[in-house]
Amino acid sequence: MNNDIKEILYTKENIKEVAEKIGTQLTKDYAGKNPLVVCVLKGAFLFMADIVREIKTYAEIDFMDVSSYGDETESTGEIKIVKDLDVPVEGRNILIVEDIIDTGRTLNCLVDLFNHRKVASVKICTLLDKPDRRVKGIRPDYVGFKVPNEFVVGYGLDYQGHYRNLPYVGILKPAIYENN
Ligand code: XMP
Ligand code: MG
Repeated sequence: MNNDIKEILYTKENIKEVAEKIGTQLTKDYAGKNPLVVCVLKGAFLFMADIVREIKTYAEIDFMDVSSYGDETESTGEIKIVKDLDVPVEGRNILIVEDIIDTGRTLNCLVDLFNHRKVASVKICTLLDKPDRRVKGIRPDYVGFKVPNEFVVGYGLDYQGHYRNLPYVGILKPAIYENN
């Protein structure tokens, strides 16, 4: 599995450090606001676990599973809610935790959905941001790292279901997806 990686971009130590930094900021920004921290499954599950452990104030957590990708390497603009939240969100302060923002289509749909559900606020925290490919005007509020325009995997991010368990973020060798 490690042989499929062209280059390691961020180790778990790098990610831990960035989660601590973001967590300190979130602790300040959300003190007294009891945010609902929403993990976008499946890609964000590891980063979510890092982030929530660095929030040193009251917060609730929930999970949503949306799919936009299938097995392709580009999103279509439509999302399907595979698993919705368990709690109502009207009037809540929502913090969405994502693995990566690429075109921004997925987050754009999610932010629209939360606004439609009359939340008090909605902010975005993402491990990775790939701003070169943005087609929607989505700007994350908290960003771990900006990544180049390459297909990355690991630390929750997959290609065809694999690589989520890599303890780092790396660039997938193009030969892996070009042969499909
Ligand atoms: P959009 O384009 O809607 O895409 O912002 C967001 C979702 O697409 C997936 N994605 C990736 N997954 N490596 C991955 O493993 C990548 O380089 C990549 N770029 C986008 C991801 O699921 C994200 O939530
Ligand atoms: Mg995702």
